[in-house]
Amino acid sequence: MNFAVFASGRGSNLRALHAAQRRGDLPARLALVLSNNSKSGALEYARAEGLAWLHLSGKTHADPDAAMLEALRAHAIDLVVLAGYMKRIPDALIEAYPGRILNVHPGPLPRFGGHGMFGQHVHAAVLESGVDLAGPTVHVVTGDYDEGPILGHTPVPVLADDDIASLERRVQAAEHDLYWRVIAQHFGDAG
Ligand code: GRF
Repeated sequence: MNFAVFASGRGSNLRALHAAQRRGDLPARLALVLSNNSKSGALEYARAEGLAWLHLSGKTHADPDAAMLEALRAHAIDLVVLAGYMKRIPDALIEAYPGRILNVHPGPLPRFGGHGMFGQHVHAAVLESGVDLAGPTVHVVTGDYDEGPILGHTPVPVLADDDIASLERRVQAAEHDLYWRVIAQHFGDAG
């Protein structure tokens, strides 16, 4: 099973997935890293590790959607794994990979999802709501924001003295352990 990781930022989930593959916990191959951001930590990591990578945006390609599909075919990608990818997913990709595009959301779904709910906005909303449990959710990507079937969730207790930064740190640590498990269970070579 070949998977691609799409990431726009730091790339900590990318690193965690690659580490799980190297430990032998994730029976799959990280075959492509794609980013719209040439300066992302994710691309920096891919280059340093000798992974196949692609910088793709409206500036780099005249038809980025077509180029994306072509790259996925060229690298024989079976599964697309979004990890902090901040660009809209083209309809053509959703059609080409039905049920085979995953995302990790930094909060419980569906309550803390939807348009505009990303990154620290999610943690702020969780803290404001007064719920006891936060935590990341891995779901299938469909045409609607954060609405595809949920494949995994890790409850992370909200502490009395949490602020956005402290909650985000614990949720991200939980993401790093959740994402590879979900992929291995549902899509891994032995899964
Ligand atoms: C993660 O917190 C994830 O929940 C969200 O974007 C963030 C990506 O972080 N979708 P990183 O680039 O993997 O460090």
